[in-house]
Amino acid sequence: PVQVKKIACIGAGYVGGPTCSMIAHKCPHIQVTIVDVNADRINAWNSDTLPIYEPGLEEIVKACRGKNLFFDTDIDKAIVEADLIFVSVNTPTKKSGVGAGYAADLFYVELCTRRIASVATSSKIVVEKSTVPCRTAQSMRTILEANSRPGLRFDILSNPEFLAEGTAINDLAHPDRVLIGSLGTPEGRAAQASLVDVYANWVPREKCITTGLWSSELTKLAANAILAQRISSINALSAICEVTGADVDEVAYACGLDSRIGPKFLKSSVGFGGSCFQKDILNLVYLSESLHLPEVADYWRQVITMNEYQKRRFAQTVVSSMFNTITNKKLAVLGFAFKKDTGDTRETPSATVCRFFRQESAKISVYDPKVPEKQIFLDLTEPGVVDDSEQVKKQVTVCKSAMEACTGAEGICVLTEWDEFKTLDWSAIYASMAKPAMVFDGRGILDADKLREIGFKVFSIGKGVNL
Ligand code: NAD
Ligand code: UDX
Repeated sequence: PVQVKKIACIGAGYVGGPTCSMIAHKCPHIQVTIVDVNADRINAWNSDTLPIYEPGLEEIVKACRGKNLFFDTDIDKAIVEADLIFVSVNTPTKKSGVGAGYAADLFYVELCTRRIASVATSSKIVVEKSTVPCRTAQSMRTILEANSRPGLRFDILSNPEFLAEGTAINDLAHPDRVLIGSLGTPEGRAAQASLVDVYANWVPREKCITTGLWSSELTKLAANAILAQRISSINALSAICEVTGADVDEVAYACGLDSRIGPKFLKSSVGFGGSCFQKDILNLVYLSESLHLPEVADYWRQVITMNEYQKRRFAQTVVSSMFNTITNKKLAVLGFAFKKDTGDTRETPSATVCRFFRQESAKISVYDPKVPEKQIFLDLTEPGVVDDSEQVKKQVTVCKSAMEACTGAEGICVLTEWDEFKTLDWSAIYASMAKPAMVFDGRGILDADKLREIGFKVFSIGKGVNL
């Protein structure tokens, strides 16, 4: 196998940035260059304020930057110099054309592949880091072989990323497994071994799983689908709990003690968000349909249907609990990120719930410890023919603290599980609110009994409607 000395990573996003910073951190003998077309993003990576918030990331970047870790906009130079290239660009759901609303848009992946083919002057190992549909590596190989200089070899590997946002650094430092797929040819296996050697600098070799290319590509979609399915399962049960008086946390705990089920990913919520689950399941649905497997497609689609239902159901509970109207009522929304410890808002359930409240003409005051005001307004403005940003600003206020958001409100919705919400001065908040003061805990993180003692009327997801 080739000993990797220089790595390029195309795409300095949530995945490329942390992943390749970790490689630089653990492999001082390897030079890592992360490149992107977005100059603002690259400038931010080179500044004191990194473009993404991730606990522990800043320390690693600051320790390696300028030594064996570089952020640059010169994509061609990085390609020419590297032995191994990660392709870590975005693969969003297609908005138009064939497969619109389901299929992954491979435009950026193809653009990178063509770029690599046209500028490379030596053989490369090209690694799919982006999440892609099963068999994308085949298309990449065809493009590389048809467009490169004679005599060059391109070996393609699939190395999907399993990090979760908010815990990326720990996930990267101690992964459950690293998955590397390759063609079963001697050259494919050699390339696979080269990448295993990179990870083996800190990941035990038995955790580096080597499979075929197609299994590796499909595993990424499968893992996300199975994780999301668990959340939709517990959320479906939360609806039953609310009517029967069963407690979803008790049910999840008791189920999770069965070692065959396990305790993780059974926390009922207002719905899952994030850039991956929905996109990857839609991708799997599209794949199933294109393979003429409609029952399989329907099965996975239901995971998303349930998630949409959960968000809507929560918002409707708020309205019905507030005497069937929230028109002109002040509602505090605590949390806008799709989960705690990240500033990311992609597919955040909070935005869906806020849009629902807007349609009901509520006044919304939002507080999130990490999401910038600009981002919140961006997410709540509907892309459409009519610019509704002025209307959004009339209905939505972004606050600097939870206390400010809650003062004078009639209801509080907890939509992200930030730790600081557990330790707010709830008595002071109660005193500042219009009565009856209501709390809707969409994450099941608050002590409902304590809040009731203070005087609040409390609804917790999956806990029975006893406001
Ligand atoms: P992102 O949007 O944060 O980053 C992608 C970056 O690629 C952007 O900065 C963009 O400017 C850049 N880019 C696009 N086309 C380019 C080109 N031709 N040349 C150079 N740069 C280009 O996306 P992300 O969240 O990092 O996700 C990247 C991939 O990883 C996706 O396929 C995603 O499904 C997958 N993934 C994401 C996560 C996650 O938690 N976010 C986890 C696992 C896998
Ligand atoms: C996910 C996968 O976990 C990760 O392996 C993959 O690489 C990318 O997609 P991420 O979306 O960053 O990671 O976060 P995750 O922790 O999976 O949470 C996703 C959503 O599910 C969040 O909105 C979270 O609040 C929600 N969730 C998670 C629940 O509602 N209940 C749970 O029990 C767990």
